[in-house]
Amino acid sequence: MAPKVITTRDGSRSLFSTRYQQHYHNISGALTESRNVFFDNTGLSRALAEHRNITLCEVGFGTGLHVVLLECLRKRTGSRSQVHYYSVEKYPLEGSTVRQMDFDRICQGINKVVGQLADALYAARDGDCVTMTLQNDPETVPLPESGHASGRQQPCNAAGLLISGGKSQPDDAPFTRVEVFRGDFIDWDLSHINHPAHFILHDAFSPDTNPDLWTVPTFKKLHLAADPGAMMGTYCSATKARAAMVLAGWHVARVQGPPGKREVTVASPDEMALSGLKQVNEASLAERFRDELS
Ligand SMILES: C[S@@+](CC[C@H](N)C(=O)[O-])C[C@H]1O[C@@H](n2cnc3c(N)ncnc32)[C@H](O)[C@@H]1O
Repeated sequence: MAPKVITTRDGSRSLFSTRYQQHYHNISGALTESRNVFFDNTGLSRALAEHRNITLCEVGFGTGLHVVLLECLRKRTGSRSQVHYYSVEKYPLEGSTVRQMDFDRICQGINKVVGQLADALYAARDGDCVTMTLQNDPETVPLPESGHASGRQQPCNAAGLLISGGKSQPDDAPFTRVEVFRGDFIDWDLSHINHPAHFILHDAFSPDTNPDLWTVPTFKKLHLAADPGAMMGTYCSATKARAAMVLAGWHVARVQGPPGKREVTVASPDEMALSGLKQVNEASLAERFRDELS
């Protein structure tokens, strides 16, 4: 059964997954939560405002809300960042469902673009990547293409890459290149990304319904793909999930959450990146959960 569209308390939309029996976002405010947890807490909003070039990895593409929010912040700040946005999705949504998210309320013209990306991802085969580059006004972006990433030797970016407008651009022109791998996280090859990830948006369903994405091997794989100064954000504050991060080599801190959520989590391979934040007691977490999680 197709996921049900709902309106959350800040007016932005979300979905209820019948497969996972859970909402895709916080019902107190999908957009508010995403901005807080994945953009502000991690420093991604500031990196965009400072025009830094960014590589980010997202776990769970879902509706594409974070591409929308990124483009919204880019427009608002006049960001000239060049962004490489890598994501993964095991159960792509139909474009018709994504279009009901009405993303134009957040960023004018983007609903059509993200809908086209969703159509291509839905039509792709497992192991394919769909790529799309947003370079100018989202409305000028042509249809995305998909390509088969046959095994680990053939990187995803062998797929067709489309540049909006089709005009040649100066080397420093801002862009967001989105590449979504259709398949299970476990099969996602992160060895070919253009640069170790500066930001990781860990946005799986909760550990009790989506346990495969909260394991030590999952966080080790993300650690391997991360820049030494990377920041990872998640809405989850579960002790066991934090322990899995610690056992995978992440330093972990607690941060105040958005409305409806007392506390959320940020993590980094570099302890200094968390200075000023309340770090969890990593030694005690590791000791408590080592046997259970190893
Ligand atoms: C909470 S939703 C993501 C929300 C998304 N970031 C958004 O803003 O719409 C979690 C997503 O992870 C996907 N997912 C769950 N397990 C997965 C796996 N093992 N590999 C890849 N994707 C997975 C689900 O299908 C779902 O779309």
